[in-house]
Amino acid sequence: MAGQALLLVAFVLTAQLCGCTAYVGGGFSVEFIHRDSPKSPLYDPKLTVHGRVLAAAQRSTAQAAALARSYTTIVSPSPEGAVSEIISRPFEYLMYVNIGTPGTRTLAVADTGSNLVWFRCVNGSSADPPPPASGSDAHPEDVVFDVSSSATYGRVGCNSGACHALPATSCDASSNCNYLQTYGDGSNTTGILSTETFFFEDAPGGCVGCRDRPQLVVHEVNFGCSTSINGPFPWNGVVGLADGNMSLVSQIGAVTSLGRRFSYCLAPYNVNASSALNFGSRADVTEVDAVSTVLVPSPFESLYTVALESVEISNSTFTVPPDQSHLVVDSGTSITYLHEGLLDQVVEEVNRTIKLPQVSSTERILPLCYDATGMTEESILEKMIPDVKLVMGGGAVVTLKARNTFVQVDQVTVCMAVLPVGDLPFAILGNVAQQNMHVGYDLDKRTITFATADCTTTYPSPPASL
Ligand SMILES: *[C@@H]1O[C@H](CO)[C@@H](O)[C@H](O)[C@H]1NC(C)=O
Ligand SMILES: *[C@@H]1O[C@H](CO)[C@@H](O)[C@H](O)[C@H]1NC(C)=O
Ligand SMILES: *[C@@H]1O[C@H](CO)[C@@H](O)[C@H](O)[C@H]1NC(C)=O
Ligand SMILES: *[C@@H]1O[C@H](CO)[C@@H](O)[C@H](O)[C@H]1NC(C)=O
Ligand SMILES: *[C@@H]1O[C@H](CO)[C@@H](O)[C@H](O)[C@H]1NC(C)=O
Ligand SMILES: *[C@@H]1O[C@H](CO)[C@@H](O)[C@H](O)[C@H]1NC(C)=O
Repeated sequence: MAGQALLLVAFVLTAQLCGCTAYVGGGFSVEFIHRDSPKSPLYDPKLTVHGRVLAAAQRSTAQAAALARSYTTIVSPSPEGAVSEIISRPFEYLMYVNIGTPGTRTLAVADTGSNLVWFRCVNGSSADPPPPASGSDAHPEDVVFDVSSSATYGRVGCNSGACHALPATSCDASSNCNYLQTYGDGSNTTGILSTETFFFEDAPGGCVGCRDRPQLVVHEVNFGCSTSINGPFPWNGVVGLADGNMSLVSQIGAVTSLGRRFSYCLAPYNVNASSALNFGSRADVTEVDAVSTVLVPSPFESLYTVALESVEISNSTFTVPPDQSHLVVDSGTSITYLHEGLLDQVVEEVNRTIKLPQVSSTERILPLCYDATGMTEESILEKMIPDVKLVMGGGAVVTLKARNTFVQVDQVTVCMAVLPVGDLPFAILGNVAQQNMHVGYDLDKRTITFATADCTTTYPSPPASL
């Protein structure tokens, strides 16, 4: 039946004087905003850096429990008879997207664990907007996309490939493609699959000699126009970055020469700096110590999974049993989760080398904490905590430095930011473990590449030396 309309792409440079042809083939970078950072509208100035770390740990714990529940529940058919996709709950990083013509600038959750791109949507400013999702407060930056204000809004028929690419869709009387997107914690959203023009502003400094920031314009992006939202979504929508056909990275890859690849460089929690989310050649991880490992076919839909073969600390090597080797690389979980047996060995080995009094953290979330009274954070983190080396499939060795394995939870306490998987069927490499690393996902090559990097300076990116 009706095939998808031909997707078109154009690179529009807003400044006429811009000598940015190199940029066109090169890719672009958007700001990747941690939800608790000063750049985020969710920023709480009353919360200290330590308080933010604890809040993130608490969210991780709640998320892991919800995920574990969803993976132990048989995936059940939705009322429409389709099987819904059960995926993680994203909520740690945000990004801006401009939708429609003229553009509506909206801040959305960026999620490496799901495919659908969706936004809160109305038809006509007099229409009732979908209420802010239950459990989340209204924010001044709440934006509802009004389809009647855009000249480029379109709908996707329910016989289209795009409609079939989603796991839980149905056809309404007008042949619109109705979707249901379910998240791991049971929250969900429904709406009508649509198409729109999206544009993304490149990072300042990304283009030498540009008067304004260049933009990447992508026409006819398939996205969900959500009119029903059930769950504590903190923002206006979700940008799926997983490797299904409907994710933003796949759609950009399908219609540009940028490829199906993205990378991020996460600035540490304790630094007031933005992180970067890169597409195209800027997502190539070319740092000298870059190591790549292959994505393994995952029984867990949508999640980027690699094989963890062993862990090396000092002179000890701990082999991971093959049936526990699935390691999900995730930006939306703060803490790292390891299977119990391995975690015990890691804790024992790390504890052997740290000569500080052991304490339990106030909130008793994290398993291994030390009293560091009288010491500077630098002296503890840089001198006392051993590197933890993750040996991944193909021999890639990713070295976790002290700041990737330990967080300071109050003035005098440092804790290991690693927890047991509990009922989760896989381990998770969380975002603390990925701080100050350039992490690149190449969906065409089926690899994830890691390199050490100073992520405090990657956004705005330095002027391209092209
Ligand atoms: C929006 O509402 C107007 C007026 O009711 C209607 O004519 C139009 O078809 C609607 N647009 C969409 C995309 O539903
Ligand atoms: C995704 O796209 C590829 C290539 O266009 C196609 O072969 C595949 O069937 C699509 N998958 C889905 C689920 O639509
Ligand atoms: C969506 O979430 C709401 C509120 O949690 C729930 O009542 C409803 O059953 C869910 N719908 C589906 C189809 O999962
Ligand atoms: C973070 O840095 C920005 C400038 O880069 C500054 O305007 C802002 O006040 C800083 N916020 C905090 C909490 O230090
Ligand atoms: C590692 O092994 C070497 C040689 O056997 C030894 O000298 C060193 O002390 C060991 N290091 C640790 C941290 O155990
Ligand atoms: C850490 O080592 C100390 C002794 O050095 C011991 O008392 C404590 O039980 C150890 N903790 C863990 C979690 O292994």
